[in-house]
Amino acid sequence: RIARIRAREILDSRGNPTIEVEVHLDSGFYGRACVPSGASTGKHEALELRDKDKSRYLGKGVQKAVFNVNEIIAPQLEGLDSSRQSEIDMLLCELDGTENKSKLGANAILAVSMSLARATAEELGIPLFAYLGGVRARVLPVPFMNVINGGVHADNPLDFQEFMLVPWGAESFAQALRMGVETYHTLKGLLKEKKLSTSVGDEGGFAPQIGSPEEALDLLLFAIEKAGYKPGEEIALAMDVAASELYKEGLYHLPGLGKILSREELTEYYGKLCENYPIVLLEDPFSEDDPEGFKLITSKLGGKIQIVGDDILVTNPKRIKWAIEEKLCNAVLIKLNQIGTVTETIQAVELAYRGSFRAMISHRSGETEDAFIADLSVALNTGQIKTGAPARSERTAKFNQLLRIEEYLGDGALFAGKEFIKK
Ligand code: PGA
Ligand code: ZN
Repeated sequence: RIARIRAREILDSRGNPTIEVEVHLDSGFYGRACVPSGASTGKHEALELRDKDKSRYLGKGVQKAVFNVNEIIAPQLEGLDSSRQSEIDMLLCELDGTENKSKLGANAILAVSMSLARATAEELGIPLFAYLGGVRARVLPVPFMNVINGGVHADNPLDFQEFMLVPWGAESFAQALRMGVETYHTLKGLLKEKKLSTSVGDEGGFAPQIGSPEEALDLLLFAIEKAGYKPGEEIALAMDVAASELYKEGLYHLPGLGKILSREELTEYYGKLCENYPIVLLEDPFSEDDPEGFKLITSKLGGKIQIVGDDILVTNPKRIKWAIEEKLCNAVLIKLNQIGTVTETIQAVELAYRGSFRAMISHRSGETEDAFIADLSVALNTGQIKTGAPARSERTAKFNQLLRIEEYLGDGALFAGKEFIKK
């Protein structure tokens, strides 16, 4: 039973305040969890409660969320059986009472929901992934490694936000990670040779002063080959365009590339990129306000590659249902803090599967050392995770946890590989 719940204000990887919660059980076991924070957020996401008090942390403090956990949520939950996760998550939604968790804050609610799951797993003496997923949980995901950063995650002219390596030809997660890491370091060498900056963006990928996506993709292909791998066959590519950030008055503004494109022109451009490069997945190719764009590209490219909805779907079961009905895309990005409870996140993934959508578990650009999403990806057998570059401890924490899980599962582990990713 839940004995005590405590929240505190800590820092995320960008040096901004975020919330951490501890759920203590009367058995002496406890669980602790921290919530992340996005930069290119979707406008339909659940609300991240910030103090807006300019005299502290430039208004980004989360003392109100901490207060809501300690003073409003904790007294309601103390004494309850912590293993009743879905019931307690629904109670948290009721206590808030709003559609987007704006009263108590999705950050406050999620931190409680996650630490509740962890406390229960601890008490049962089983790993978090096994608690959340049961005996069926055994698929280690292909890591989508964001090694070139652009958009609002970096100060370079690249319009697209993320350029990812997809080491899908590996036989195990550990091998996939090694392939990605070797390519990442080779890429660093290449950038140095070209006298380009090797400083990194928010997710640990390099942020060189280049403006065109082709230049970034060429660098990746070159690095893959130089590292000794076969582009496409062993390591494929993926991009998160984060196009909501580029959309103004019905057009897509690409200042780095020096172009302003219509929905149709942008679709054509994506088509060419997919012809010329081994791209297996495009995330947010269009704005959250442009479902027509999503429909268009899914009808053109959806049979060949994954089209992933992030900003437009925000891990929200209602929006995912809409996307399935309207054929807006064929995959959904899953971020716990977009929706705000563990139960609703699991529901979002189950709904996606029922609609023959893929699901990709994702970090945020502002992260913490909490590796909850690593366990979640195995628990739900999503077969794919994106958690940045293999650099910066808040990113490597997730990779390292996946290494531990693969080792723990031993022969029972199944690496997702190509078949899970392919359309
Ligand atoms: P965010 O970016 O965490 O800044 O929203 C990640 C993404 O767009 O996928
Ligand atoms: Zn995204």
